[in-house]
Amino acid sequence: VRTAVLISGRGSNMMALLAAARADDYPADIQLVISNRPEADGLRKADAAGVTAIAIDHKDFDTREAFERELDAALRAHKIDFVACAGFMRVLTEWFVSRWEGRLINIHPSLLPKYKGLHTHKRAIEAGDAEGGASVHWVATEVDGGDIIDHEAVQIEADETPESLANKVLKRELVLYPRALNKVLMGWH
Ligand code: GRF
Repeated sequence: VRTAVLISGRGSNMMALLAAARADDYPADIQLVISNRPEADGLRKADAAGVTAIAIDHKDFDTREAFERELDAALRAHKIDFVACAGFMRVLTEWFVSRWEGRLINIHPSLLPKYKGLHTHKRAIEAGDAEGGASVHWVATEVDGGDIIDHEAVQIEADETPESLANKVLKRELVLYPRALNKVLMGWH
């Protein structure tokens, strides 16, 4: 399945997907990486891994939809069938989501439906939660609101900080995301 990964930064989840996709029996064929931030480290990493990596800077566009039209055009130009957001920090509008619904997933660093949005680890610690984690979910128009595909949980220790929790959760994300994408694309046609 011709797949694109959308990123905004460091791209560790994207690299985990690329590594998984090297296996012959993995269903995703990652053809394209797009970042809305031209300076994203992940773009360089994808390029070094031999994948087409392009920047579409959201700041070049007056509206969210104008940015998304460009994104949509790039995905279509590369004949992409499936899109995985991985640390992609732009909220997608109804315009884009309705076009890609059912072919668009995201990873979010919380045990959804808890802590949609930002500062998830800090919020989980402050709430006194016993566990934090990450979820892979379908993208729907409500931010971080679509059906959950899979998740990974980690224990929150007494001395946990948002940074230590983020590090622990990220390690699990790198296992979770390839597994979730595999699950979704198995038997895809
Ligand atoms: C991950 O924790 C992801 O869940 C969150 O942003 C982080 C992205 O990291 N939305 P990376 O770009 O994959 O390294």
